[in-house]
Amino acid sequence: MNKSQDIIQNLKTSIEQVAIKMGIENPEVHIEHPDDISYGDFSSNIALIYSKQLKTNPKALAEKIIEELKKEMPENVESVSIAGPGFINFRFASKYFLNQLDKILKNGNKYGRSLENKKTVLVEYSSPNIAKPFTVGHLRSTIIGDAIANILNFSGYNIVRDNHLGDWGTQFGKLTVALEKWGNLVEIEKSESPIKELVALYVRFHEEAEKDPALEDMAREKFQLLEEGNSPEIRKTWEKCIELSKKEFERIYEQLGVKFDTQIGESFYATPEMIEKVMQELVGKNLIKESEGAQVVFFEKIGESEKYPPLIIKKTDGTSIYATRDLAADIYRKEKYGNDVTIINEVGSEQILYFRQLYETEKMMGWFQEGQRVHIAHGLLRLKEGGKISTRKGNVIWLEDLIREAVERAGKINQESAHEVAMAALKFNDLKRDSPQDIIFDWDEMMSMTGDSGPYLQYSCVRARSVLAKAESLGINPTINIESKTENLERLLVRFPEVVERAGIEYKANILASYLINLAAQFNNFYANNIIADEKDPESPHKTALTKAFDIVMANGLGLLGIKVPKRM
Ligand code: ARG
Repeated sequence: MNKSQDIIQNLKTSIEQVAIKMGIENPEVHIEHPDDISYGDFSSNIALIYSKQLKTNPKALAEKIIEELKKEMPENVESVSIAGPGFINFRFASKYFLNQLDKILKNGNKYGRSLENKKTVLVEYSSPNIAKPFTVGHLRSTIIGDAIANILNFSGYNIVRDNHLGDWGTQFGKLTVALEKWGNLVEIEKSESPIKELVALYVRFHEEAEKDPALEDMAREKFQLLEEGNSPEIRKTWEKCIELSKKEFERIYEQLGVKFDTQIGESFYATPEMIEKVMQELVGKNLIKESEGAQVVFFEKIGESEKYPPLIIKKTDGTSIYATRDLAADIYRKEKYGNDVTIINEVGSEQILYFRQLYETEKMMGWFQEGQRVHIAHGLLRLKEGGKISTRKGNVIWLEDLIREAVERAGKINQESAHEVAMAALKFNDLKRDSPQDIIFDWDEMMSMTGDSGPYLQYSCVRARSVLAKAESLGINPTINIESKTENLERLLVRFPEVVERAGIEYKANILASYLINLAAQFNNFYANNIIADEKDPESPHKTALTKAFDIVMANGLGLLGIKVPKRM
């Protein structure tokens, strides 16, 4: 239990006692932070909940409760007030927070870290497809998945970062046909952008197949040959495609500063043995039925209709399918990391239904306990002008172009930090909203130095560091003064461990992102209203210490979001 949980417990107990005194049986007390810190540190809605029962109105009840509380103020509480329709807000004494600031200064980049959780969590993210473009959807998955992995790692979990490469499926049949008919792999390899050439072939396949459906059959046959291991030639083409794609993906990961522990492609799970294992387990549990020649899992009936549409596991021609390989992957992961592994799949919201079907199947198999399968879904990325960024039909926005543009724009702020600022802009734009929401691609908003953006947060940190450098040059030694009456900054600073914990529990990086925005606003306020480094000011060591604590917490928070603080901006 951390400190804030202790004081929440104390506060709850005090409120409970008062409530019981007023005739509420078994009162349920909820405490949370008010949206705006100037209202107080904690808030309770107890008066809103129980006023009806006590036949009074919330405000009157709140007043009575406060009156009672004031007779014996809960520990550390400085003032109590009513807000809105009857919320009771508590403001704690600065001392309580100032006392904890030392911990920030002492722990530095470890501040907020927890060692309590020891379980293994496999976070699967990015997962682009071989010989296809790395889409903005994959970019979102990479950014969000990486942040979640960082946050959980900081919370103590043993993290496995896995890139589930899409390197298997009928698309390779299509590509093989297209290469035979209209392409030349040797030429393609020598070209400036092999992936673009491969994608062009893939697009052409679909155009031609609309006129000539026989092409689809040919593609299916080719894939069958590949999966059965019966064509060294197709296998070679496939290997080449992987090599070319991986090279390109690595370039992107390097720019983003993202690394994986494992990059196991779908093909690894598509071997006859693995597929057989999946089939055996399903058959063993009596979950598989034949339907029109395919092997299918049906779900529980609720009334007339099924909970989910049936899930195909094996196609009529006997080849594996996306779901077969996912089931095989989870069997493998359970064997490798133990049955109590938690598996997170960070995949676009268009696959929500699919992941429900997949998890439901695994649940029926008894493979996991509640909470051990998590789909973090992300919404689409939309352009400000409207319309979605599509990758079908060759209407592709190439990620490298996007990154190039971000770097160009960031270069206008400062050439030296252009890359770091560009990455911060792209990443924060993805992380600041709850991930299922669609995000809007608005360059001005992303690059803004004044609000809600990655560069703004970086800038607040750079600013703090330059003040700290000045204080150092003046010989000012950062020291907390417990008696100091300051603003709201320290109150927010000590919330950091709690915020990280909650972001991890809820798998929501945006909880951390919004906290950092609030924190930066408080710091900028403090910065605007104070001369921090001033030899003649006896409060200067304290103000410098607060600035230092801010720098530590902001840099730690940004680090968890995968954002670096540049030297200059
Ligand atoms: N490669 C897939 C795609 O681009 C995403 C894979 C997600 N992970 C999974 N286990 N199915 O849509």
